[in-house]
Amino acid sequence: MQIRAAVLERFGEPLVVQEVELGEPRAGEVLVRLVACGVCHTDLYTASGADPSGYAPTVLGHEGAGVVERVGDGVSSLAVGDHVVTLFSPQCRECVHCRDERTNLCLAIREQQNLGYLPDGTARLSRGGEPVRHFMGTSTFAEYTVMPEIALAKVSPEAPLDRACLFACGLSTGLGAALNTAKVQRGSTCVVFGAGMVGLGAVAGCRLQGAERIVCVDLSPARLELARGQGATDVLAGGPDAVAAILELTGGFGADYTFEATGSVKVMRQAVEAARMGWGLATVCGVAGRGETLEVIPRYLITGRRVAGSSFGGVKGRDQVPQLVERYLAGEIDVDPFISHRLTLDEVNRGFELMEAQDGIRSVLEFG
Ligand SMILES: NC(=O)c1ccc[n+]([C@@H]2O[C@H](COP(=O)([O-])OP(=O)(O)OC[C@H]3O[C@@H](n4cnc5c(N)ncnc54)[C@H](O)[C@@H]3O)[C@@H](O)[C@H]2O)c1
Ligand SMILES: [Zn+2]
Ligand SMILES: [Zn+2]
Repeated sequence: MQIRAAVLERFGEPLVVQEVELGEPRAGEVLVRLVACGVCHTDLYTASGADPSGYAPTVLGHEGAGVVERVGDGVSSLAVGDHVVTLFSPQCRECVHCRDERTNLCLAIREQQNLGYLPDGTARLSRGGEPVRHFMGTSTFAEYTVMPEIALAKVSPEAPLDRACLFACGLSTGLGAALNTAKVQRGSTCVVFGAGMVGLGAVAGCRLQGAERIVCVDLSPARLELARGQGATDVLAGGPDAVAAILELTGGFGADYTFEATGSVKVMRQAVEAARMGWGLATVCGVAGRGETLEVIPRYLITGRRVAGSSFGGVKGRDQVPQLVERYLAGEIDVDPFISHRLTLDEVNRGFELMEAQDGIRSVLEFG
């Protein structure tokens, strides 16, 4: 079928919205009609050419939500009409990682996904007979996409899909960092560095876990206001003095849990240094620039601090994204303040501009 999609033709240039061909879903694959898709930093990062593993031409987009339109042979967990959230981090439920509760890093389709292909090593997207690659296994800046069954989370049909799409990446990443990776304990003190989609999700996650004190650190007063809305009890201006300020707020000890959601290795270091002696856990969510390293004075570790990394918040997507969406429907997670702009597919480059200007938390593309 012919569909409209936003194609990354060349790094550093605007995406070109155009007609491309989308093949039928094959065995284990599903055709999804997209209803909404968030515009995330990772899309921009790849479009800019900064991502060393990037490729073009490709259809970008990975924060999608939509409705199942057709299923390929052997698909058993999804049916036509189901509402789904797309997962760049799939869950096959069979590999050694899926069967272990310690990680969400499914091994089933990693290699082909990283190369831009569906699990059988081919693309369903094409143009003039030439394949167009599938970005992050999702390619959701498009009216329709074909994805593996194991990379789709079936969510409640009650959830508006323009909100549900945020659970496809940033929001679940932040929530999951607190719920799964750190497993924040009731009554604890938490510090979240960064109040973008990921950091605000982490603030909400700490609140859901029953943290007593949640300090959010950011450079933007407007974003710190949003953090208060998500449950931050204290807010702080970021910068070189942030660790000293946190120590002062916590009787000189630091926090039980710290979260980094900025992508800056300097802030990652601050997250380690602001964690409490004895048991403080620093969870790193941000994606650092190519070649950058995290500097940690080993004494911080010897004296009981730990560092953890978190990909997609440790969320096992098919099991847990539907649960997070249920918590949203139950009123436990306030999603609306994250949506700052609603755009059409043709305005996708405007979404990138708004993101670069730090205008709002998320622009959501709405289709059809
Ligand atoms: N681990 C994952 O699976 C995953 C998933 C999505 C995004 N990410 C990464 O998480 C990071 C955050 O994503 P986002 O969408 O929330 O980004 P964002 O740019 O919207 O938010 C980052 C925030 O950090 C703040 N900041 C910058 N410097 C700071 C400092 N010195 N002190 C305190 N705050 C500072 C900025 O003001 C901004 O509000 C990015 O690096 C992104 O690539 C990781
Ligand atoms: Zn993302
Ligand atoms: Zn797996």
